[in-house]
Amino acid sequence: MNADTHSHSTHDASEDLRNNDIKIYVNGDIVHRDEAKVSVYDSGFMLGDGMWEGLRLYNGTWAFFDEHMDRFFNSCKAVSLDVGMTKGEILDALNRTAAANGMTTDVHCRLMCTRGRKDKPFQHPGLSRSGPTMVMILEHSKPVASLHDQGIRLATVAQVRGLPNSQDPKLNSHSKLNCIIACLQAEEAGADEALMLDPHGFVNTTNACNFFIVRRGEVWTSTGDYCMNGVTRQKVIDLCRANDIPVREKNYSLYEAYGADEAFLTGTFGAQTPVASIDGKQIGTGERPMTLRIRQLYKELINVNRHAKQTP
Ligand SMILES: Cc1ncc(COP(=O)(O)O)c(C=O)c1O
Repeated sequence: MNADTHSHSTHDASEDLRNNDIKIYVNGDIVHRDEAKVSVYDSGFMLGDGMWEGLRLYNGTWAFFDEHMDRFFNSCKAVSLDVGMTKGEILDALNRTAAANGMTTDVHCRLMCTRGRKDKPFQHPGLSRSGPTMVMILEHSKPVASLHDQGIRLATVAQVRGLPNSQDPKLNSHSKLNCIIACLQAEEAGADEALMLDPHGFVNTTNACNFFIVRRGEVWTSTGDYCMNGVTRQKVIDLCRANDIPVREKNYSLYEAYGADEAFLTGTFGAQTPVASIDGKQIGTGERPMTLRIRQLYKELINVNRHAKQTP
């Protein structure tokens, strides 16, 4: 396999024309995408002042809904953003929007909550007087098959996800500029996505997903101190522990990443996505037994989750 002949992003989805006519939830209304609008005074548009979650609907069940809501409410609390809805009301709104679209499976939702409309176009959060703004975009969405066959090409970039006392990397905020700068740097280097280091130079995360390597039968990921507390990341760690796969959250460097037998990304959209190369160096032989095993375990977990009751 030549890792340099294709171009991908981790969020490449098969084209689905049904998405041209989807209905979107905006502050209690469910309207055609052409009618779904927020104000130019909205805190999210003006300042990136909001939080979001990516969720997936598989066979009528929102996967790991409780975990997503825990992170979402925690993030909103951390920035004093009043969601204005309970977890149960959010579940109800998600289900109503799915029903309005006739959607039951292979759906991705971007749920967004901002501090709402501002009185004046300035930064102070107190100027957001009518809010919050809640939007739920549900799309028919399946990762393209080639993503799993070919894998993603990563480039290490200068941009880091930094210390928690600047903008905590655990905040899933509307402002993704740090990640976007990283992604642009990776594109300029001829890769698909960015591999970001932590402030000490250890391998950390990518601009949109969490990052794992496999070495000599062990699964490694960063300590978690400088990356998104990914729901999928935690599920992979838990699955490894439950299935006697040695797994470590530790500091490691590019030296160990380049020499890995396998590497993969995790995220709600793509589950586990293989990495083909880092900085032009092919990862392993292209055989990915551990990634495949974890993917299979994750699929089974989604199925188990499906039979568990969704708690509002
Ligand atoms: C920067 C970043 N890393 C990782 C993830 C993956 O998190 P999850 O597995 O919860 O989708 C996301 C998704 O929101 C993200 O934005």
